[in-house]
Amino acid sequence: MAYDLLKGKRGIIFGALDENSIAWKVALKCKEQGAVFTLTNAPIALRMGAINQLAAECKSEVIPADATSVEDLNNLFEKSVQVLGSKLDFVLHSIGMSPNVRKGKDYGDLNYEWMLKTMDISAISFHKVMSVAEKQDAMKEWGSILALTYIAAQRTFPDYSDMAQAKAMLESIARSYGERFARLKKVRVNTISQSPTMTTAGSGVGGFDVFMSYAEKMSPLGNASAEACADYCVSLFSDLTRMVTMQNLMHDGGFSSSGMTSALIEQLKK
Ligand SMILES: NC(=O)c1ccc[n+]([C@@H]2O[C@H](COP(=O)([O-])OP(=O)(O)OC[C@H]3O[C@@H](n4cnc5c(N)ncnc54)[C@H](O)[C@@H]3O)[C@@H](O)[C@H]2O)c1
Repeated sequence: MAYDLLKGKRGIIFGALDENSIAWKVALKCKEQGAVFTLTNAPIALRMGAINQLAAECKSEVIPADATSVEDLNNLFEKSVQVLGSKLDFVLHSIGMSPNVRKGKDYGDLNYEWMLKTMDISAISFHKVMSVAEKQDAMKEWGSILALTYIAAQRTFPDYSDMAQAKAMLESIARSYGERFARLKKVRVNTISQSPTMTTAGSGVGGFDVFMSYAEKMSPLGNASAEACADYCVSLFSDLTRMVTMQNLMHDGGFSSSGMTSALIEQLKK
């Protein structure tokens, strides 16, 4: 439903790889609510993914940027402000990748070079994004910056591996930079902790289908879909949430507050 919640707002959306990506759904919902934005992804993902299709649908320009490269990010923010015609109201960081997970490394035998890469891509890139935005003074007052995270930052999940450490760091960066950006520019910074969702990044985690069906049963409302996550992102980019900052917001159908659920008891009784 279009409510013009983001009418006239401008932004950057990171991380739309294909139509399953959470960022892809966020882009479509932002467009529906009246926003204009640039789309970005790592150069290799742009070659492999389908982002041009999304760009055509959203009438967006695609600007390549490896989110670990400050040089690329500088170019991205400069060009985005130029193309969109003013400073930015919102930024979505929807980026995650662990070489250790991708290559099936056992947690007791991590490759530490790869672990540093995991941290850089999945967490430190969020700091870099905000630091570039701050230095270029690219955000408008009362702007909103969001990153996507997972509850493995607080609790252990087998096979999530070093991504758990990356998500803990990501959430911590949101709090620290949130305090700074609020003080400097009244910009809010939050993370959304999303239910397991069938995407390229999600399905890279071992036993992901089991993860998903367990979470479905442990969430009184069921797993939150990527579309529902996109709706939540829109609300956080809108002017209706101006005083929400430095939060890790659970978007998980109630999973994080459940000790046991009737659905799981019923299943275990069988
Ligand atoms: N899928 C899930 O179950 C789930 C649950 C909670 C949180 N999340 C988080 O949501 C976010 C989006 O993931 P998704 O599930 O939509 O999967 P996805 O694979 O569609 O998106 C991940 C994106 O990260 C991008 N990326 C990787 N390295 C990059 C780099 N160096 N520079 C720029 N971009 C880079 C990829 O190209 C891809 O577009 C991630 O932060 C992920 O951890 C996912």
